[in-house]
Amino acid sequence: MCGIFGVIGQDTNAVQTTFNGLKDIEYRGYDSWGIASWNIEDGIWKIEKNTGFLPKIMDSRFRGNDGVGLAIGHTRWATHGGVTQINAHPHKDCSGKLVLVHNGIVENYLELKKTLKSHNLKSETDTEVIVHLIEEALKKNGLNQAVLNIFQKLRGLNAIVVSDGNEIIAAKVGSPLIAGVGNGKLFIASDPNALLPHTKKLVFLQDNQLIRLNKELELYNSLNSRKLQPIITTVPWEHSTSGLQKYKYFLEKEIYEQPKALRNIAQNAKEVEQVAGMIRKAYGTFFIACGSASYSCLLGVYLFSKIAKKHVNFSVGSEFNYIEDYIKPKSLVVAVSQSGESIDTLEPVLSAKKHGAKTVALVNVLGSTLYRSVDFPVLLRAGVEKAVCSTKALTAMFAHMVFLSYCLVGKRKTAQKIILESAREIESILKRRSAIKNLAGKIFHQKNIFILGRGLSYPVAMESSLKIKENAYIHAEGFAGGELKHGVIALIEKNTPVIVFVPEDETKQAILANAMEVKARGAFIIGVGPENNPVFDFFFKVRDVGASSVIPHPVFAQLLSYYLALKLGLNPDRPRNLAKSVVVR
Ligand code: G6P
Repeated sequence: MCGIFGVIGQDTNAVQTTFNGLKDIEYRGYDSWGIASWNIEDGIWKIEKNTGFLPKIMDSRFRGNDGVGLAIGHTRWATHGGVTQINAHPHKDCSGKLVLVHNGIVENYLELKKTLKSHNLKSETDTEVIVHLIEEALKKNGLNQAVLNIFQKLRGLNAIVVSDGNEIIAAKVGSPLIAGVGNGKLFIASDPNALLPHTKKLVFLQDNQLIRLNKELELYNSLNSRKLQPIITTVPWEHSTSGLQKYKYFLEKEIYEQPKALRNIAQNAKEVEQVAGMIRKAYGTFFIACGSASYSCLLGVYLFSKIAKKHVNFSVGSEFNYIEDYIKPKSLVVAVSQSGESIDTLEPVLSAKKHGAKTVALVNVLGSTLYRSVDFPVLLRAGVEKAVCSTKALTAMFAHMVFLSYCLVGKRKTAQKIILESAREIESILKRRSAIKNLAGKIFHQKNIFILGRGLSYPVAMESSLKIKENAYIHAEGFAGGELKHGVIALIEKNTPVIVFVPEDETKQAILANAMEVKARGAFIIGVGPENNPVFDFFFKVRDVGASSVIPHPVFAQLLSYYLALKLGLNPDRPRNLAKSVVVR
């Protein structure tokens, strides 16, 4: 993962500009941060870097380099080397003239490091190797050619930004990089949103391209060093900002924004009907996604079968290339992603394109790599999601699956009606949140929580368990109700919490029987559904809204995970070890 931001030109405060840019991309990693700014008078780099989150505001540490016109910054999600100040980017070469930030993994860094015996490397990172290799290459070449030569030697998916105080050079394969053309200034960033406060004129770097930012902007093919004509696109997008308003955490705020998002989605039938038309015509439809988004795809498999009698395939993105051989030009690949940057979702899309398949994205971030890569992007319309754990974007994905399945059989209005009903039910859940808070107070010390659902509620159980793991660091496992007895029931002990989703559908009797089985072994049964039952030790009512019940049910788990995190003294917006957008394999 990691986020990159850089600026060069007539900027009277490149440090502040870079700091603000990093704030916009901090979701890409928050293990550590760093900013290097070039002091023209002294001819030296001033580097501030540290572990942990970027400071709330620019404090005294950053003074001294106000007024400079060149800075590059980084937010890190550690891959090679622990979370330490030394491992934080930017990294310098031996001479101290070059600084470099990096997003990706240099797969052959150990091999390359062997050629640097005379260099003094300080960190454990793969990144530092790159800047020293460029230092070596500089002995024979100018900076541009040196970076071109070294970038060709790096294996893996990498984006680098390097500077010698005179210019910024950036190159990429895989990880995103976008240049911005401002008034007397040039920018580089991992996310177009970070550039929009400064310019709407953007150059989206393709893989194997290198860009040189000086007074002018020059583009090169990084494989053969040939100069290319840069394509400057003026985008109509606005900078997305999202403040906390009255809320303490983004997670809480985004949970509360779900009814609004659902109302927004229900009005947007046109694109959904177009996608339904493509699914109808396709020779076979393949859904791909990771994390929470993958559970929306699994839900799609159930919904399309139940509502539209249509078979669709699903694979988590990282497994797609092992089963993609039967993708044909008539196939349709639908990628689902909040960020539109998960590499595990992007790579299958590119691969599907190579097979000639048509590609669709259900994506929340306008202008993201996925949005720009597919034949037909559909915005999820959840609005900016900042908390690492997906809530309103997940809800938007679930709602789109409901919408699509009904549109496939010409029942758009039914879908709109039940999506709106589910929005009302979420409002009702939010009003009754104190009951969930009390439940969190009872079970926060447990080491295991199991979650059961059958049919449409199986993906709900999976998603609910992910929320609890991510936010509360409690081991939680979602299961198809019938599967538990095939092994995992061995883990049930006295008072083990087991959440059971019991909607008023064909799964009801069987899932209640599964609840009985674990209760007989001492489990504490938490029932979620329209009707209480003697087997439940705790009951939370969620009114039935037909197939759309899958939309309010996860909200119970969102709130439970939120209150568990608070009870355990954890920051629900920044779970440890995670990043919102995962751009490494
Ligand atoms: C990360 C996040 C998850 C998210 C997943 C997929 O792992 O921590 O919460 O579900 O990425 O992200 P995407 O942006 O592709 O939906």
